[in-house]
Amino acid sequence: MHHFDYREGELYCEEVPIETIAREVGTPFYCYSHATLTRHFHAFDAAFVEVDHLTCFSVKSCSNIAILHLFASLGAGMDIVSGGELHRALQAGVEPEKIVFSGVGKTEEEIVYALEKGILMFNLESPQEMLAVNECATRLGCRAPIAIRVNPDVDPKTHPYISTGLKQNKFGIDLEVSEEMYARAGKMSNLEIMGVGCHIGSQLTEVSPFLDTLRRLKLLIERLRKLNIQIRYLDLGGGLGITYSEEAPPHPSEYARVLLDEIDGLDCRLIFEPGRVIVGNAGILVTRVLYTKDGPVKNFLVVDAGMNDLARPSLYGSYHHIQPVVDQKRSEFQADVVGPICETTDFLARDRNLPRVEQGELLAVMSAGAYGFVMSSNYTSRPRPPEILVQGDRFEVIRARETYDDLLRGERLPDFLN
Ligand code: LLP
Repeated sequence: MHHFDYREGELYCEEVPIETIAREVGTPFYCYSHATLTRHFHAFDAAFVEVDHLTCFSVKSCSNIAILHLFASLGAGMDIVSGGELHRALQAGVEPEKIVFSGVGKTEEEIVYALEKGILMFNLESPQEMLAVNECATRLGCRAPIAIRVNPDVDPKTHPYISTGLKQNKFGIDLEVSEEMYARAGKMSNLEIMGVGCHIGSQLTEVSPFLDTLRRLKLLIERLRKLNIQIRYLDLGGGLGITYSEEAPPHPSEYARVLLDEIDGLDCRLIFEPGRVIVGNAGILVTRVLYTKDGPVKNFLVVDAGMNDLARPSLYGSYHHIQPVVDQKRSEFQADVVGPICETTDFLARDRNLPRVEQGELLAVMSAGAYGFVMSSNYTSRPRPPEILVQGDRFEVIRARETYDDLLRGERLPDFLN
């Protein structure tokens, strides 16, 4: 459920016509619905209300500080994977003790930053990283709270590029050797073992891989407890999918029911790291048709948003529904929706059946709230688009459109060229 609907043939975000925003801020732009963000966060968080848990929103999926602030005000913690994300979360008012830090390549600088701020825990992904965290904590004279991110070798049945919990993936520690790593961690005086973590992949549309993972981690926790290693937190990661087109992922309540049945009696505080399921359908990308171009074998809609603005179609072949902002009776045709960039992979849709839209019209690229703006770039020196947040009948720019001067920030001519 989201709050992008047609009223008398015109697309609205909550109470605001998309056309009104386009007139004010120009195109392309990202537009998020406050009511949808709030609703999706509650739907997820409330599904686990009966157990002690912390919903750590995955910052990487949509990292604007206004949105992080909104979730923090709803009680969220954050899942971060870089110093930059930590900075964002703190700027947004997130309490450090609600932040978990994952990622295979944390630098010393990032580790120190997170230790100084007092985050909830580091999800460790390699023995060398464990040593690095212990060293940093020793230097700072503190104990670093840690979990080990276990790789359970479960097939998440998702796009291979976003699968993370298989043996061949770079993520986490092999389940079999994790026990030994916990034993080593237990002997390091500047580490404090907090829990067990995992994240098996993204855009999962079935519960069974989550359940398989949970079963494996439960056994691990039991074995660790027998070794007198206390496990207080179980971080089950993110990954719950959304509907982009025909997928029918489980509702968070269904996901929760299955997991909670299995978790019964485990005596751990649960952590979740959802991203996409909360923001994916709460944001759209609005773009204008620059030209319609009927080629000899294909029709093209050349729009003013490109792969630099929304990378998912060109990177993963992802499907995003595209619809005209003005809905009226017209014939259909098939077209590629392409951006202005000089690459054949610069498309938002291929061979798509669409209403025959015209030059100058606005299109809404749906389900663009997750991994949309955050993956945008300045390729071909295109300023990145603004982000707009709508609440009821008002809207505000929460990130300004970049200017040509923004593109050059930090660049300079070296003395030897002057
Ligand atoms: N936790 C960890 C450690 C992660 O690596 C991720 C996502 C999440 C949580 C959140 O997963 P979610 O609930 O959003 O599925 N760019 C790709 C998705 C990459 C996901 C990376 N990790 C895409 O556009 O589909």
